[in-house]
Amino acid sequence: MLFPDYRPRRMRQNSAFRRMVRETRIDVNDMIMPLFAVDGKNVKNPIPSMPGQFQLSSDQLVKIAEEVFELGIPAIILFGLPKSKDPLGTQAYAKNGVVQRTIKEVKNKIPELAVITDVCLCAYTDHGHCGIVEGRQIDNDATLDLLARTAVSHAKAGADMVAPSDMMDGRVTEIRGALDEENLSHIPIMSYAAKYCSAFYGPFREAADSAPQFGDRRTYQMDPANALEAIRETAMDVEEGADVIMVKPALPYLDIICRIKEEFDLPVAAYNVSGEYAMIKAAEQLGWMDGQRVMMETLTSIKRAGADMILTYFAIEAARSLRDA
Ligand code: PBG
Repeated sequence: MLFPDYRPRRMRQNSAFRRMVRETRIDVNDMIMPLFAVDGKNVKNPIPSMPGQFQLSSDQLVKIAEEVFELGIPAIILFGLPKSKDPLGTQAYAKNGVVQRTIKEVKNKIPELAVITDVCLCAYTDHGHCGIVEGRQIDNDATLDLLARTAVSHAKAGADMVAPSDMMDGRVTEIRGALDEENLSHIPIMSYAAKYCSAFYGPFREAADSAPQFGDRRTYQMDPANALEAIRETAMDVEEGADVIMVKPALPYLDIICRIKEEFDLPVAAYNVSGEYAMIKAAEQLGWMDGQRVMMETLTSIKRAGADMILTYFAIEAARSLRDA
């Protein structure tokens, strides 16, 4: 394969050739759209750091879910903003919590759209941590039961899959056991297996009102410098019964996605998080980059790295752009 015998440019000379040799294609089936559920009626609060994203009351959320479904995107993932917070995050597993009610409405109107739920406590606790706080520590084992209750309450409300994002040790075992006990053995677990302690979650914490009120998440989320640890973390979740394993964030961790894909034979999800979205939107608004092209290049890179599915705030926009291409 040496010049002048081999000329890589030969197969790049026109659009037809380029399409024929393209190795990675992103399509609607790869994407999952995150949505933020709030109480009330007719609420559509723009999230300033995430242009085009909103906090939505269930009537408005259903409208967007309908568009998601019509575009052919297979799933949404729901996050909730409860009406009240307390130390134990009781609204996370309340039978009539905002997520539980929203699931019912979406499944009622659009039964074929898969509804995934984020299982965590941080948006529901008054201290903003993902677990029970004892003094200044997060009590891992005491938290597991609350996470399991949250997952079960989501599944009972009609969720098709649960996605624990808390990063407590042992939560997949606990959630699997609790689901099975409640005759919910058919509900898969998408585990946020390698979730890093990332500043790229900044805009999300504004969107979900879930910032920790003291300290940070370094004692439970992973150190961004560690790759081997991501393999160990993921191996544990696989052993514990995860059906889908997730790497999060996506763009600064493409190497991790690639390694996890090589190491395990389960479907791999990657979360193209709020900060990744915000950077592109901001640069586009400043006229510094072509936002549409950067969006498609970003999603393609995540898939090329090995992701089978991408959780992304761009899902609707990318699906429209694929449809109109
Ligand atoms: C809850 C959770 C977070 C995200 C998803 N689930 C925030 C966090 O861990 O602080 C981040 C998603 C995003 O930034 O888009 N634990």
